[in-house]
Amino acid sequence: MTPTDFEQFIATNKKLVESNLPKYIKGLTAPDILKEAMNYSLQAGGKRIRPLLLFATLHGFKKNIELGVQVACAIEMIHTYSLIHDDLPSMDDDDLRRGKPTSHKIFGEANAILAGDALLTYSFQLLAEMNHPDITAKMKVNLINELSKAAGPEGMVGGQVADMEGEGKNLTITELEYIHNHKTGKLLSYSAIAGAILAEASLDQIVKLEKFAQNLGLAFQIRDDILDIEGTEERIGKPVGSDTGNDKITYPSLLTMEGAKDKLTFHIEEAKIILNNLGLDNTDMLSAICDLIASRDH
Ligand code: IPE
Ligand code: IPE
Ligand code: MG
Ligand code: MG
Ligand code: MG
Repeated sequence: MTPTDFEQFIATNKKLVESNLPKYIKGLTAPDILKEAMNYSLQAGGKRIRPLLLFATLHGFKKNIELGVQVACAIEMIHTYSLIHDDLPSMDDDDLRRGKPTSHKIFGEANAILAGDALLTYSFQLLAEMNHPDITAKMKVNLINELSKAAGPEGMVGGQVADMEGEGKNLTITELEYIHNHKTGKLLSYSAIAGAILAEASLDQIVKLEKFAQNLGLAFQIRDDILDIEGTEERIGKPVGSDTGNDKITYPSLLTMEGAKDKLTFHIEEAKIILNNLGLDNTDMLSAICDLIASRDH
């Protein structure tokens, strides 16, 4: 696989998700302002890294990418809802997201909260309504169950609460790891797990894939913390210095910038070791995602 092959893989999959997301919103019978707010944040851009991880996992099992489109859109909806709420004045209070004014700046706080609620709920509807001959009822229940766990109190929401509770406090590395693993790691892990469920992977492979993706998720959030300091607003599409402004403990603040970068490298290397022991048909795209996460500038 050449770098161009990977770039093409990213572009094709991004297009697949971005062409389907508006279709799902268009078909809704709901107030126009709600549909507009849902669409606004979904279409603002974003790297679509979680769908990419799902598609690369399917590719790893030599499965057709089409199989994962609806799940990928559901994941992107949950992720987008989490960002809308994360930016609210009562949370990180940020004005810019994906290079555009945040939802509450355009639609007001109430509609931003409700657009987030709608994206969250609708994502589960999308999973329940999947209609593909290769997706069985058992797979659907499994996909819904795993997503509930990843996004809910034992997953992302738990991590977000710990993140807010941790503001202004001295956290240990274990506490910070809990926050990162939950607020970011769980949904990223789900993206790989969902690919494995769709590909009818063995339990052993699912367990290993989850470990692989946990390392990736941690690395992804460490990079996010680094970019909050070293990034540019133009490139990351969100304000720089948000963490410092909110008195958050991050990897660089706890371990120094050099220590944070070492930790990032460690988790990427761990992920690659696990990946090589997974017994997949193709590891090229998943391995390229590891490198992308290690070096991303946005
Ligand atoms: C931002 O996620 C929030 C984190 C969990 C770090 P992304 O960096 O994936 O944001 P988009 O989707 O590309 O905007
Ligand atoms: C947010 O983490 C994670 C979720 C939205 C679940 P951050 O607060 O660090 O994300 P950004 O930097 O605002 O994208
Ligand atoms: Mg936050
Ligand atoms: Mg934030
Ligand atoms: Mg951040």
